Amino acid sequence: MKKTETAVQMLLADIEGKDILEAACGCAEFSCAAAPYAHSVMCIDLVESRIKGPLPENVHFEMMDAAAMRWPDETFDAVFLYNAFYHIQPQWEAIEKECRRVLKPGGKIYLLSLWGLDKAPLIKQYGTAAQQQGDFLIVPIIK
Ligand SMILES: C[S@@+](CC[C@H](N)C(=O)[O-])C[C@H]1O[C@@H](n2cnc3c(N)ncnc32)[C@H](O)[C@@H]1O
Repeated sequence: MKKTETAVQMLLADIEGKDILEAACGCAEFSCAAAPYAHSVMCIDLVESRIKGPLPENVHFEMMDAAAMRWPDETFDAVFLYNAFYHIQPQWEAIEKECRRVLKPGGKIYLLSLWGLDKAPLIKQYGTAAQQQGDFLIVPIIK
């Protein structure tokens, strides 16, 4: 099983039948793994070049800055950032604020990471709230 599929299975309760967002999606591998379960998946990145080939029907990519999203408040049930924390860390304060804004009340933001590069700053920032689950370090943030 691919790592992205494992991650989706771990977080299925917040994906199945939901309208979800993946921010800083890169090649959108996590979004594609979530597609068979989610109602809809929006995925965004600053660049489009990492998206290869057609996406599943319920996955929609937009070039968008996660620190200045174009959606209205309370659009999504959950927001996911997969292996992206190190790259977005300088903007995290603004990105987290935006993720909270577009989340419905009670929705969750998940920061997931497989890489040491991401894990170290996540542990520094979130301490014991960063939980190791299998190969993943996961930080759940509830709105
Ligand atoms: C490690 S890469 C890809 C992570 C991706 N989730 C994956 O698994 O392939 C991090 C990504 O963050 C994107 N990124 C950085 N800052 C961003 C921002 N402010 N808004 C949206 N995407 C951003 C980069 O363009 C890059 O594609």
